[in-house]
Amino acid sequence: MLQGKNIVLGVSGGIAVYKVVELLRLLTKGGANVHVIMTKNAQEFVTPLTFQALSGNPVHTDLFSLYQEQEIGHISLADRADLFILAPATANLIGKVAHGLADDLLTTSVMATKAPVLIVPAMNSNMYENPIYQKNQKFLHDNGYHIMEPVTGSLACGWEGQGKLPAPEAIFAAAVSVLTPKDLLGCRILVTAGPTREEIDPVRYISNYSSGKMGFAIAAAAQQRGAQVTLVAGPTNLTVPVGVRCLPIFSAAEMSSQVFGHLEESDVVIKAAAVADYRPVSRAPQKVKKSAEQLTLDLEKNTDILYSLGQKKGNKVLVGFAAESERLMAHAADKLQKKNLDLIVANDITREGAGFDVDTNIVRFLHSDGRVEELELMSKVQVAQQLLSHVRVLWKAKK
Ligand code: PMT
Repeated sequence: MLQGKNIVLGVSGGIAVYKVVELLRLLTKGGANVHVIMTKNAQEFVTPLTFQALSGNPVHTDLFSLYQEQEIGHISLADRADLFILAPATANLIGKVAHGLADDLLTTSVMATKAPVLIVPAMNSNMYENPIYQKNQKFLHDNGYHIMEPVTGSLACGWEGQGKLPAPEAIFAAAVSVLTPKDLLGCRILVTAGPTREEIDPVRYISNYSSGKMGFAIAAAAQQRGAQVTLVAGPTNLTVPVGVRCLPIFSAAEMSSQVFGHLEESDVVIKAAAVADYRPVSRAPQKVKKSAEQLTLDLEKNTDILYSLGQKKGNKVLVGFAAESERLMAHAADKLQKKNLDLIVANDITREGAGFDVDTNIVRFLHSDGRVEELELMSKVQVAQQLLSHVRVLWKAKK
């Protein structure tokens, strides 16, 4: 995702420094080459050695170090960077950057770079609310710096309020977003993800193995590419991607009502959810007790949401998924045509690394004009990116 990108991670002094160690791990795992610059105060919280070991690069601390200058030089760091991340960014660091002060290696490098800068503030909530700080933040925002909102919660200083560093995963997603070309700007995408649950009684339900990973990957990638994303999600353990509006649902009926409720405001609908085809005719008000040797459950059909969407799609782009255990192409082609889709993503769930509850998938894209594209085993994030490139073409053509 960040393959080949040079990222400078500027660390200033705050208790949240320990969380940035995890951020560094995520960045390197994502393929980035990370150079860390630490301020003097940051080194009071975590030693440079930790960042050096995890980044595989020397940590830069000193503006006038002959060794560091010879090895790389602060201007060279600023020039080669694709992205600067300042995390945690203290009120002091932000104030200096806003006022053009360059009195140490980090502030000098930030001032010298033409790369985008992502600032991740973390501080006491009173400092965060201070009008002087807010003015500095606004000035930087107005001048093209990317600034994340701190999280509200209990702070290290004992206060409750806004000022906590966001989770490393959220900072990572924001970094990917800053570096991703916004080729879906203006596109409103509704994605469904995860399973539905059809209740039998207060303690039991009918469902399936969908984890939501495929749909959440699509939602995250679409948001990073500039789309306005609404995610209608069944029960999952996943974190809602930053910048995505999530509408949690439980049953197929709830999913249907959210999808149709937000249809007008969508240009594209991508249905990655595994929706239960049937639900119990009635939900027992109390827990069903064990008695007879056999128990028959009466089921009735759920509305096929995608089929209904196909009936009224107008100039919207409609993408479906087909999870099949046999005759993959025949079943997927049948759904593509019957549900009036522009594209269907077929996954053969009998193959290892494909389908439910794994991080990877093996899919084929079937287009309404008969084209078929077969993809190799890849991460669901990569599948999402490839799918969205097709969605973009379809959306542009219908606009
Ligand atoms: O969530 P993960 O663990 O990451 O797994 C991903 C996935 C396997 C769930 C995903 O890749 C996938 O294939 N989703 C579709 C699952 C499926 O079984 O689809 P289907 O063949 O039952 O339905 C075809 C299409 O119609 C789907 O787009 C489905 O969302 C839609 N549908 C189905 C039934 C129904 N009542 N309403 C619908 O809208």
